[in-house]
Amino acid sequence: MNRASLEKRPEEVAAMFDDVAPKYDIVNDILSMGQARRWRRIVVDAVGAVPGQKVLDLAAGTGTSSEPYADAGVDVVACDFSVGMLKVGKRRRPDIDFIAGDATNLPFADNSFDATTISFGLRNVIDPKKALQEMLRVTKPGGKLVVAEFSHPTNAVFRTVYSEYLMRALAPIAKKVASNPDAYVYLAESIRVWPSQDELAAWISESGWSSVAYRNLSGGIVAVHRGVKADTN
Ligand SMILES: C[S@@+](CC[C@H](N)C(=O)[O-])C[C@H]1O[C@@H](n2cnc3c(N)ncnc32)[C@H](O)[C@@H]1O
Repeated sequence: MNRASLEKRPEEVAAMFDDVAPKYDIVNDILSMGQARRWRRIVVDAVGAVPGQKVLDLAAGTGTSSEPYADAGVDVVACDFSVGMLKVGKRRRPDIDFIAGDATNLPFADNSFDATTISFGLRNVIDPKKALQEMLRVTKPGGKLVVAEFSHPTNAVFRTVYSEYLMRALAPIAKKVASNPDAYVYLAESIRVWPSQDELAAWISESGWSSVAYRNLSGGIVAVHRGVKADTN
């Protein structure tokens, strides 16, 4: 595992997700030991969308993070730049609106969505601050931002055990279950270098979002950050 594995161009990130798309959801469930489902429920609750509202699920991949909104009668747009991931999603959920687009240059008008959310995707975006600004642009004044991302365990002992688990166990497990084990080496390394909870909160505020706060899940393995687009009235 080396730093070079993180120095990817956007096309290389898209191609990597095209490769993992067919087995993406099952590998996720195995590697997160079933926790992913609970994390996803908490994100949906934080978004708190109701039928009649419009939600952008950015870096939606195969649409697993978008499904609960569609199931609740919320108008959800699943946007991603990996055509491979979108194809798997569209095959499974033809009722969801899957749209190809880059998080740093979104194909949507200003003030289009009641809420914008991104689950386990911001870390993969080459310029995450630009994505946060784009999310602000397309969200309506008074609308919400919810970001779920892998983060850093708050307990020092657990943090050490966890990074050992990540660095050592992920690669061999991924070799057995994944079609592209290198993608999971990238996953472990990208989590290790991702900013802390407080740093990410600062990035979100600096990008123009108000009332920024976060909640740690599973001891900080995941953090859910929230923000609001200030109402200019
Ligand atoms: C780990 S998957 C998450 C998928 C989904 N949100 C979920 O929770 O299962 C990360 C996704 O981010 C997408 N992605 C990375 N950079 C992107 C960008 N600049 N614009 C749009 N999507 C991007 C990848 O194509 C991939 O599908």
